Amino acid sequence: MPETLYDQVAYPSRPFQQTHPLRLALPAALFGLAYAPMDRARVLEIGCGEGGNIIPLALSYPGATIVGFDLAETAIAAGRRTVEALGLTNISLRTLDILDAGPDLGEFDYIIVHGVYSWVPEPVREGVMRVIGACLAPEGLAFVSYNALPGCHLRLLLREMVMHHLRGREGFEARLAGAREFLNLFIANAPDNDPTAFAIKTYCRAMLDRDPRVLFHDELGPVFQPFYLHEFADEARRWGLDFLAESEGVWWREELFPSSRGKAVNAVVGDDPVALHQYLDFLTARLFRQSILSRTGRSVSRKVEHRRVRGLWAAGGVRCPDPAPDLVTDAPVRFEFAGGAAISLELPALKQSLAAIGQAWPGAVAVADLPDHPDVDEGLLQLFTAGHLDLAVGPPPFATEPSERPRASPLARLQLDDGETMLTSLDHAMVLFEDEPSRRFLALLDGTRTRDDLTAAMAKDGRDPAEVAGLVVNQLKGLARMGLLIQ
Ligand SMILES: C[S@@+](CC[C@H](N)C(=O)[O-])C[C@H]1O[C@@H](n2cnc3c(N)ncnc32)[C@H](O)[C@@H]1O
Repeated sequence: MPETLYDQVAYPSRPFQQTHPLRLALPAALFGLAYAPMDRARVLEIGCGEGGNIIPLALSYPGATIVGFDLAETAIAAGRRTVEALGLTNISLRTLDILDAGPDLGEFDYIIVHGVYSWVPEPVREGVMRVIGACLAPEGLAFVSYNALPGCHLRLLLREMVMHHLRGREGFEARLAGAREFLNLFIANAPDNDPTAFAIKTYCRAMLDRDPRVLFHDELGPVFQPFYLHEFADEARRWGLDFLAESEGVWWREELFPSSRGKAVNAVVGDDPVALHQYLDFLTARLFRQSILSRTGRSVSRKVEHRRVRGLWAAGGVRCPDPAPDLVTDAPVRFEFAGGAAISLELPALKQSLAAIGQAWPGAVAVADLPDHPDVDEGLLQLFTAGHLDLAVGPPPFATEPSERPRASPLARLQLDDGETMLTSLDHAMVLFEDEPSRRFLALLDGTRTRDDLTAAMAKDGRDPAEVAGLVVNQLKGLARMGLLIQ
């Protein structure tokens, strides 16, 4: 393969929670569609870079089969080194051009295309949809992220000015320096009393704050093509795919419990989900979309029956300030959510459910194990749409209680060995892990040491063993909360 810009300047490779198959399956579950369980799912990532988003899936779900491909040979080589170091046998990474990819890749339950669609030339973009159309299983779900209109008009405007300034400047350092020069010039000299210039300054600041490698590829790269949702949905339809939902939270509120804005839009455009979302994009000048596609012709029932929540898992950092709450009678009990909101509840079944969810945090509770009451199902759904609780089609794949011989994620320990400060958690997120004593402690968690061994190892520098034993317990609890311990 010829060298690409991504070979010249590596793109940071990391997990994105919003692409996780458990996340993609949630709207399917609530809309009454079948989906593949993660423990034997087949997952494809198109343009996977170094595999930072799919290697953690292979690690957490040994029964799943994971394939990733990318045009950049250096990225695939780096990803393969990680796969080999972790001894994973359920993932393969390939150097392949989207233009050459087709049905011989196989059939997949989940296809992920993150950060590619808006940044590749038109034939490659069409290739993305063609490959999804060819490789998605009948009950499969695909994720595609892209820059959205109308919000990106302002970003395009800024990009055109920056690109003008970068004429004749080639290479990472020169283009980055040129971009910074222009952005600072704009911020210092464009008038604050002009509303357009004022808004553009916000984007200038955001660009200056971005990781330089991301800025180089995403904003300063050769292609930056935003789309209206209706254009994206029309293109998907050409390949036998329908817009199902958005993978991030806000859409639920509008579809399941419309705001006054959502109701007003509904009244004008009717119930068509693409039209509803499109008009909401108009009203909010949306910049970015992360859309889930399913095969055309599936029977999607968007009016959510609350019973569908029964098959899900609920999680959330909800706590009850009363040390002895009355969960049996109708007496009101106050619950506080992680984000700061609070609610007073009377229904015993719902109070018991929230108490159980709070106790299990950071783990999840199977809703089937909570009191079987329609108000519990509806209450959980409302708390989810309000952003206070999480719902998922499966439990998180990490230990919430440290085991007798605690074992940290081998991927996080590998990253630690490489001196990285951002570690991949088993919750498919990045966690900042800089504190030196904590780093030394994490390095010990290879599953061979008991808590006593850990205490002895940490007490070597002459500290009081009883004090160290307490620290070990606290460290383990903290690591479990971060999703860094294996079940
Ligand atoms: C902006 S990066 C995104 C990487 C990763 N998906 C992420 O979101 O972090 C775009 C990726 O698409 C890959 N890519 C671009 N054109 C491609 C093509 N024709 N075939 C396969 N991969 C391609 C690049 O090599 C690069 O790794």
